[in-house]
Formats: sequence, C-alpha cells, structure tokens
Amino acid sequence: MAASAKRRRGWRKRLGALARFTGALVIVGGLYSVFSPSLYAQEPDANAIDSEAVKGQELYDTSCISCHGDDGEGIEGRGPSLIGVGSAAVEFQVNTGRMPMAAQGAQAPETYPSFTEEEAEWLGAYIEYLGGGPSMPDDLEALVEHADVGEGGELYRVNCSSCHGYAGGGGALSSGAHAPSLEGVSDEELYQAMLTGPQNMPVFADNELTPEQKADIIAYVQYLVNDDKDPGGVFALGRYGPSTEGLAIFLVGMTALLLTTLWIAGKS
Ligand code: HEC
Ligand code: HEC
Repeated sequence: MAASAKRRRGWRKRLGALARFTGALVIVGGLYSVFSPSLYAQEPDANAIDSEAVKGQELYDTSCISCHGDDGEGIEGRGPSLIGVGSAAVEFQVNTGRMPMAAQGAQAPETYPSFTEEEAEWLGAYIEYLGGGPSMPDDLEALVEHADVGEGGELYRVNCSSCHGYAGGGGALSSGAHAPSLEGVSDEELYQAMLTGPQNMPVFADNELTPEQKADIIAYVQYLVNDDKDPGGVFALGRYGPSTEGLAIFLVGMTALLLTTLWIAGKS
C-alpha cells in the first residue's frame, strides 16, 4: 500500500517536472518569435537586382545585345525577345554552344560553349530578372535517382520518338531543321530542352509532363543512348563501373578480415 502510494507520488513529481519543462520551452519559443527579426523584413526586395544578375548583364551587354536588343527586348530580323524565356532556356542555349549565335541560319548549331556554366547561370539570372520564366528544379539529381525507366520509355515513345527516333538517333524535320541525336546529352540539357522547347521542339510545360515524368524520360534516354558508356555495377561508383565496385568490396572485406584477425590474436 505504502509502496504504491510512493510510486504514484514519484510519477506525479515527474509529470510536474515535464509540465514545467514544456512551459519553459513555450516561453522561450514565444520570446524568440517576438524578438527575432520578422521573416518578411529579411525577404529580398523583388525589384533589387542581385549580384549574379549584374554579372549576367555585363556579359549580355557585350555578347547578346547586338541581336536580342536592350534589356532583352529583341531586335526585328536578328533575335527574338528574351523576356519571360527564363533561366532554363538561357542555360540550355549557352551551355550547348547554340548562343551566342555565330551566324543566322535555319537553326543555331551546337558548338563549343563560349561561356562557363557559371557564366551561363549569371546570364540566366539576368534574363530571369528581366521577366521571370521557367527555371530548373533544385533537386533534379534526386528526381532522376527515383525515376521510373519503364514509365519513361512509355512517355518517350509518345512524346519524343516522332522527332528524335525510337533509338534516340535524331532525324530530319521539314525546312532544313533537324532533331538532334540524344547521344551524350546531360540530364540538365534534357530537362532544359523539355522545359523550354528550343526552336521546332514543342514546350513540355510542367502541366503536360510533371517534373517526375520529365525525370522518368531522362532516366530512359540515358539508359537508351548512353547505357554503354556507363559500365554499370550495382553501385557504379561515379560511373567507373564494376571494377571499382569490386575493388571497394575487396578492400572493405580485407580490412574487416584483418581487424578480426588482430582481435582474435589480441584475445589469445
Ligand atoms: C547573331 C545573333 C544572336 C546573338 C549574338 C545571340 N543570339 Fe540568342 N538567338 C538568336 C536567334 C536568331 C534566336 C532564335 C532562333 C534559334 O533559337 O535558333 C535566338 C534564340 C535565343 C534563345 C531562345 C529563346 C527562346 O524562346 O527559347 C535564348 C535563350 C538566347 N537566344 C539567348 C542568347 C544569349 C544569352 C546570348 C548571348 C550570350 C545570345 N542569345 C546571343 C540570335 C542571337
Ligand atoms: C516536333 C519535334 C520534336 C519533338 C516531339 C521533340 N523534340 Fe527535342 N528537339 C527537336 C528539335 C528541332 C531540336 C533542336 C532545337 C535547336 O537546335 O534549337 C530538339 C532538341 C532537343 C534536345 C537538345 C539536344 C542537343 O543536342 O542539344 C534534347 C535534349 C531534346 N530535344 C529532347 C527531347 C525530348 C526528351 C523530347 C520528348 C519529351 C523531345 N525532345 C521532343 C524536336 C523535337
């Protein structure tokens, strides 16, 4: 009888301590939210141009303005307006060497890029500052990692194969244009092409192909045309293939054996 009363008193003590602790937490939290600077105050001014966009503008004014005009407004007969095309279109065009366009033609050819990827991002930031537009998702790598290759195959056959071919080898289109081969394209390039629809390619906005579906297509295209470049292995270890994987397993195994041997030796 006395023992159970004691136990009950012990519990009440602990509950009381818990209540006091929770109360303290609530007070501290409340004080924090009162005294911490408001989130809105920290939000950058939407009209302020950021440093990346400033650097992008400098590049734009020397390399793009002759065709795309002041503030990306376009010049009739030279280059279209870039207002609202977004950073993804700029990164695609610049990273594939299509822009700055060397000469007018049916289709800007892919060449060696004139800018680094970082500079392409600055240019993109500037064009985004001018008029918004589609940009790349931050988590493309994770999306592709969780992609469904089988689903991607279905989507590719419906949406892409008519121009790029069932095997991704590309093909001729009317009026001197062509859909290029998809061999050797990066995940980013695939995503950007779908999101922005360069030239005669249709735009696949997120309401037509969700980011997840785009990732499925990317996984399928990489499997289709680039598979032989990836030597495989279950954990391809940065795409060096099964030999590195084997080496890693060997090293881990040998280390484990060695440690076990030392441990046994130490015991006896
Ligand atoms: C010699 C003229 C010329 C120069 C220089 C040039 N462009 Fe272009 N650009 C064009 C033409 C013409 C098109 C449309 C035809 C095409 O897409 O092939 C175009 C298309 C684009 C597009 C695609 C627009 C869309 O609707 O998706 C982007 C983005 C772009 N240019 C960015 C740039 C950037 C950034 C630079 C500078 C680094 C640049 N261009 C320099 C002529 C030029
Ligand atoms: C109506 C024809 C057409 C369809 C459908 C089409 N494309 Fe394209 N695609 C093109 C053309 C044309 C270009 C070249 C554009 C340029 O050079 O500016 C292109 C370019 C590309 C590029 C850039 C390749 C490179 O070498 O830089 C990729 C990647 C791409 N397409 C992927 C796709 C995917 C994925 C789909 C399906 C979701 C698709 N395309 C559907 C016509 C098409």
